[in-house]
Amino acid sequence: MDERRWWKESVFYQIYPQSFCDANGDGTGDIAGIISKLDYLAELGIDALWISPVFPSPGYDNGYDISDYEGIAPQYGTMADFEQLLSEAHARGLKVVLDLVVNHTSSEHPWFKAAISGKASRERAYYIWRDPAPGGGPPNNWGALFGGPAWSLDEGSGQYYLHLFSPQQPDLNWENAALRKELYAMMRRWLDKGIDGFRMDVISLIAKPEDFSSGTPCPSGYFDPRGRIAANPKLHVHLREMRKEGLRGSGVLALGEASATTLDSARLLTNPNGSELDMVFQFEHMDLDGGETFKWTDRQIPLPELKKVLFKWQTGMEGRGWNALFWNNHDQPRMISRLGYGEQWREASAKMLATCLHMLKGTPFIYQGDELGMTNMCFTSPEQLKDSESRNAYARYVGDGSIKEADMLHYISLKGRDTARTPMQWSAGAGAGFTAGVPWMPLNPNFRHVNAQEQLHRVDSVLAFYRRLITLRRKHDVIVYGACVPYAAEHPGIFAYTRVLGEQALLVCCNFSAESVHFAPPDGFMQAHTRLLLSSYPQSAYMQAAVLAPYEAVVLLNAPDEKEE
Ligand code: NOJ
Repeated sequence: MDERRWWKESVFYQIYPQSFCDANGDGTGDIAGIISKLDYLAELGIDALWISPVFPSPGYDNGYDISDYEGIAPQYGTMADFEQLLSEAHARGLKVVLDLVVNHTSSEHPWFKAAISGKASRERAYYIWRDPAPGGGPPNNWGALFGGPAWSLDEGSGQYYLHLFSPQQPDLNWENAALRKELYAMMRRWLDKGIDGFRMDVISLIAKPEDFSSGTPCPSGYFDPRGRIAANPKLHVHLREMRKEGLRGSGVLALGEASATTLDSARLLTNPNGSELDMVFQFEHMDLDGGETFKWTDRQIPLPELKKVLFKWQTGMEGRGWNALFWNNHDQPRMISRLGYGEQWREASAKMLATCLHMLKGTPFIYQGDELGMTNMCFTSPEQLKDSESRNAYARYVGDGSIKEADMLHYISLKGRDTARTPMQWSAGAGAGFTAGVPWMPLNPNFRHVNAQEQLHRVDSVLAFYRRLITLRRKHDVIVYGACVPYAAEHPGIFAYTRVLGEQALLVCCNFSAESVHFAPPDGFMQAHTRLLLSSYPQSAYMQAAVLAPYEAVVLLNAPDEKEE
């Protein structure tokens, strides 16, 4: 069996602070708001919080452009507020994991300001500089993820600096030992405050390869260098050093956002001896509904492909690494909407998707609002868009006439990052209980019926279902440590698998369709000791007739030695 670790046995909850809860009525979530909801989170049963960045930032990328690693942005509160959050979370048994954004800083970070003050500055080498191409212009054809080239000109020196995201997010040069030392010291200062770990933003991209040559362009006209960067073996050298010096060994959690990573690389990153990271988010399943125009299409993720990719990661990581499991986060649309499930099936599909994810092997992450069955926002005007990725894409594709305005708004509502960043829906009252002021981002109008207050005491609510699901993880080792074995992998509408740990076995069957489906269990799951551990419906016909209702998920348990409670 894999070695027991707290973060394997935990369910995490991601807080996007700007949209979680606003205590002071300025329209933006804050730390006091998070504190006010800790009881809600503890009752949900989660074990740990991942809090997206709360550091000072000019906000070009909603906090993922940090201008001071040591402080708290005034919009969120003060360091005293943060310390109170930490101690109150700990008092409720909740661990706290902070975002560590060290692939890049903000262009307003003092290091970058010093770096552009002149070539002789000490911090110049903290960033990545190249001379213009021989005929002028950027040094190569690499593209930035939020549009345009990955290079911007520093007019003072005539050199270009690298930014894989936006020009306001210059990439750090991890080859520089003095920089690494500063980063590790900063990490240790946060650990000294008592945090339980870091979620490491695009950590797979920190080690830039020696090969800075141009590559084959995508339809965007630029080369996407992420695959080449993530494959640089130097990444593992840096991470091993960071583990020792920044994290002081293996006690705290290192959760990596592994953009563009391969299975082989993820096995190294999360190898069980803990020398690099503990677990990674991979994105292969999130890239299944893209097309020629990047994610801006209405293509849906085909279930057979989704299963294929997730099963590859389940079986490929077995005994060799650890997956972080997610359907949504602040960069991804809400899965219910992404798969096209309408209001009629919203609650049923929310419960089914939750079951499917939480029963896979790995550590499940709930993104705020998943536990209520929150859905995508429908944007009706480009003025409503906040995220630079969507705004740039809108300007580009609508600007050059390749996508019609209404279609682009539809695609952004389906796939953009703003669509899951709408404020948390606490109640049907003014401001959805999120704010007493004017929310920084439009509320999803469905807050009037999709909200926490309505679900708190309803026994068949999505929220109540999440509580049951989370409780099960504590009771059954097989949910945490059992190996995942795909079942009926070719079935077009059912996502099914078993989990096996010694004598214990689970069967998980999830109906991804709006039809009732007869779906026979594998041999061994209709024994006297087989019981229905969970169904997402109040009454299930599965044990009697092997029929799954529309969007039903069932979990069967074979545990010969276990007594039924
Ligand atoms: C990944 C983060 O999740 C995303 O929100 C951000 O824009 C990029 N990294 C750049 O920091």
